[in-house]
Amino acid sequence: MIRTAAALLALFALAPAASAQETPEWSLAIHGGAGTLLRENMTPEQEAEYRAAMQAALDAGAKVLAEGGSAMDAVEAAIVRLEDDPKFNAGRGAVFTWEGTNEMDASVMDGSNRAAGAVAGVGTVRHPIRLARAVMDDGRHVFLSGDGAEQFAGEKGLEIVPPEWFATEHRRRQLEEMKAKNLSALDVEFKFGTVGAVARDRQGHLAAGTSTGGMTGKRWGRIGDSPVIGAGTYADDRACAVSATGWGEFFIRAGVAHAICDRMLLAGEGVQQAADTVMADVAQMGGDGGVIAVSKDGEAVFSFNTPGMYRARANSSGMSEVAIFAED
Ligand code: GLY
Repeated sequence: MIRTAAALLALFALAPAASAQETPEWSLAIHGGAGTLLRENMTPEQEAEYRAAMQAALDAGAKVLAEGGSAMDAVEAAIVRLEDDPKFNAGRGAVFTWEGTNEMDASVMDGSNRAAGAVAGVGTVRHPIRLARAVMDDGRHVFLSGDGAEQFAGEKGLEIVPPEWFATEHRRRQLEEMKAKNLSALDVEFKFGTVGAVARDRQGHLAAGTSTGGMTGKRWGRIGDSPVIGAGTYADDRACAVSATGWGEFFIRAGVAHAICDRMLLAGEGVQQAADTVMADVAQMGGDGGVIAVSKDGEAVFSFNTPGMYRARANSSGMSEVAIFAED
């Protein structure tokens, strides 16, 4: 039972490599989902493909920051790459709903002014993260959903694709397997693969973004944490930027992304400590998953309570690393 397993799992986190260094001029971290990622379940070829995909997304975001671009542009650039890659549960490669459709959620937040944009249940917008950004940039609303969000995307000139663009064979097989085995959408491998990015730019501004197809076999218009500001995504220049992945219901209930920034702002905790404390709380509640976070000083960290999380980070001091398994 994953609930029990999650509660028993220790928190895994890479040591905060930037902490002993000077504040980097810019810093970036990305994730491609957490879950039961074990080396013995992955061929060397599959592992190499995932590492290359993560590196490509990291490089896309790092290029923006290295050239003096904004944290928000870097977050968008990294996530667009992951949304176009069918290996990840976001954009192309999104999981299927119970009815056999793909319904995607995404959000962004700008730490400089705490502006935010989010969308839920969209099925024809090629890059949901761009739609979330358009909602934020437009400024009238924070959260759009369904047909209205699609109409807004058309009015903003975003790229619209037929629903088949998102439908991949391996995700369809996962839905069929889930139905055939009478499994729940909550079984571990059917609810992970969300992507996200957090960044600090040369101006000291922070940004976060998250994009997902949600859970395989989700029903009744279910929406997870990814588009919920404060749960799956949060950014505040005074503290940190966070993007989450995992069992969304728990991340919403714990207000994960906001809770991490709050601990830093109000209790003066470091970013690793704040992230670990909040993820321990999620585990205690019975939830599993992970977060990436970058502090106002550019320290980029990971914290997760699953056996693995696709993750990567880079900064202006020359760090550029990709990891998958807890022991990486
Ligand atoms: N964390 C993604 C979801 O629960 O939908």
